[in-house]
Amino acid sequence: MPVLRSAFIALSRNRNLRSFAEKSSIGNKLSSRFVAGLEISDAMRVAESVNRQGMHVTLDSLGESVTSEAEAHKAAGVYHRLLDEIAARKLNSNVSVKLTQMGLTLDPQLAGTIAESLAEHARSTGNFVRIDMEDSSLTQITMDIVRRIHAKPGLNSAIGIVIQSYLYRSQADVEQLIADGIRIRLCKGAYKEPPEVAFPKKSDVDANYLKLTWMLLQSPVYHGIATHDEKVIEATKSFARQHGIAPSRFEFQMLYGVRRDLQRQLIADGYNVRVYVPFGREWYPYFMRRLAERPANVFFIAKNLLRK
Ligand code: FDA
Repeated sequence: MPVLRSAFIALSRNRNLRSFAEKSSIGNKLSSRFVAGLEISDAMRVAESVNRQGMHVTLDSLGESVTSEAEAHKAAGVYHRLLDEIAARKLNSNVSVKLTQMGLTLDPQLAGTIAESLAEHARSTGNFVRIDMEDSSLTQITMDIVRRIHAKPGLNSAIGIVIQSYLYRSQADVEQLIADGIRIRLCKGAYKEPPEVAFPKKSDVDANYLKLTWMLLQSPVYHGIATHDEKVIEATKSFARQHGIAPSRFEFQMLYGVRRDLQRQLIADGYNVRVYVPFGREWYPYFMRRLAERPANVFFIAKNLLRK
């Protein structure tokens, strides 16, 4: 793993820096490139604007690893409000949820119950809950929870999962999830993982991403190809063309503020695009992972800040 990437991932876990950054107004300004704002109203405003540009949205209320049951319920409350607001405003948006924010590391049963109630709520408004994938110590339990909820009567179209191509286990997981008929978002993976569980070389992560993409595209389920990698996007488009897979059968997904040019181009070319829009006060770890992916973002953000 490149030194800068490791350094930013280490910084993403630094509590003192986090608490300072999230409270400071300069920090909030810095993060605005990748984060919609601090409040639900900010998320709604950005989602409406992204929808107006012809793109779908998935909303992420930032926060991970809560330390009490009360905090988990509070975090779930925000998602219930989001589902109601999305329905009331007729937005084209679903929600993305981290199970550690719903108490996974305190009590997996608590996180499972909360996720199920969110899926029930989503079903009642014709919506969908995507469970984000976190570090590899949580992959199996996340799979178990999503598969259990998906198997419940009526909930099969209300919940989906994320798979990371950097993990060795992902091919087997994709096979299992396709057999279950579960919607997958495929990404490369954003956490720091040891070579025992994840490909250390980026070229292997990318090759596995393509292999898993072929599996997804050939399955009858509607999946999300979540990447900003132009080579992967081009390869996906040509694979779909060659195999007669219509653009309506899958979607590309990208992060808010990242490669907006590419997002617009895909829409103009007739592809479905969903933008992942995070918001909330706990933006620091998310923001630092974005810097880890592309350390040049530091200069880019600093330049924009000076310009304002
Ligand atoms: P890669 O890192 O190879 O980058 C390819 C190119 O994209 C770069 O050269 C650059 O041009 C551009 N790019 C990538 N990141 C950028 C950035 N931050 N700023 C500017 N340009 C950038 N991860 C995870 O572990 N669990 C999850 O649940 C999710 N969920 C998720 C949802 C969605 C919609 C997306 C797009 C991504 C995620 N991820 C995630 C993050 C994912 O695992 C990965 O870290 C990033 O998407 C970066 O990988 P790329 O596929 O973009 O390719």
